[in-house]
Amino acid sequence: LNSYSIKAFENPKSPISEAYRMLRTNIQFANVDRVVKTILFTSAGPAEGKTSTVTNVGITMAQAGKKVLIIDADMRKPSIHKALKLQNRFGLSNTLVELANCECYIVHTLQEGLDVITMGPIPPNPSELLGSQRMKTILGELTRHYDYILIDSPPVLPVTDAAILAQIVDGVILVIAANSTSHEHAIRAKEKLSGVGAKIIGVVLNKIKTKSKDKYYYYYHYE
Ligand SMILES: Nc1ncnc2c1ncn2[C@@H]1O[C@H](COP(=O)(O)OP(=O)(O)OP(=O)(O)O)[C@@H](O)[C@H]1O
Ligand SMILES: [Mg+2]
Repeated sequence: LNSYSIKAFENPKSPISEAYRMLRTNIQFANVDRVVKTILFTSAGPAEGKTSTVTNVGITMAQAGKKVLIIDADMRKPSIHKALKLQNRFGLSNTLVELANCECYIVHTLQEGLDVITMGPIPPNPSELLGSQRMKTILGELTRHYDYILIDSPPVLPVTDAAILAQIVDGVILVIAANSTSHEHAIRAKEKLSGVGAKIIGVVLNKIKTKSKDKYYYYYHYE
């Protein structure tokens, strides 16, 4: 469990929780012109804060009374179960290969209103599974039961998975680690996503160092 993964849960009054609530509000505004229910979180490279952002946004949305489902679609390095202290024996990979009803694999969390489908066993062919018709069908079915479906994914530059998923969601949020990701990589990630027709609804500038006691902050750029 990493210390940033459940900030919104542990201390709803902290500035970082406030930042996540701001992000939640901005996502709700993205809903004005068209329905934005399924949202993919990705980044250019690894360790920029995708999993932490998805987890915290999910919690703050649920705290606001929304019904939220987080799907761990990072088949390269699944970690939603760690962030939320859940088991990962079964999950998304099972629903994609077994043709089982995906509702069997939904788990409730300690946060009321927040459900999760963990990744499950790591399959040998992630891109193929995520790009399958079944993935689309499952997502379509699940949207009937939730206000928001937030999807965690691998980084967009090294593997194709996030670009594949970006095509079947309503919107994409690009998480960028402010101090470590180069401008060039951020642009390339954005281009790769736009290139497949993804709608980038926002960019989260993560891990910004500030001078205040609250070491890190967010900046959310609304597109
Ligand atoms: N705003 C933040 N401030 C400081 N540290 C952070 C912040 N967000 C995430 N981290 C830390 O950065 C590391 C990577 O975070 P996280 O696992 O959320 O990234 P990720 O993009 O999902 O990584 P991966 O590519 O491995 O899936 C973790 O140790 C996490 O605690
Ligand atoms: Mg992750």
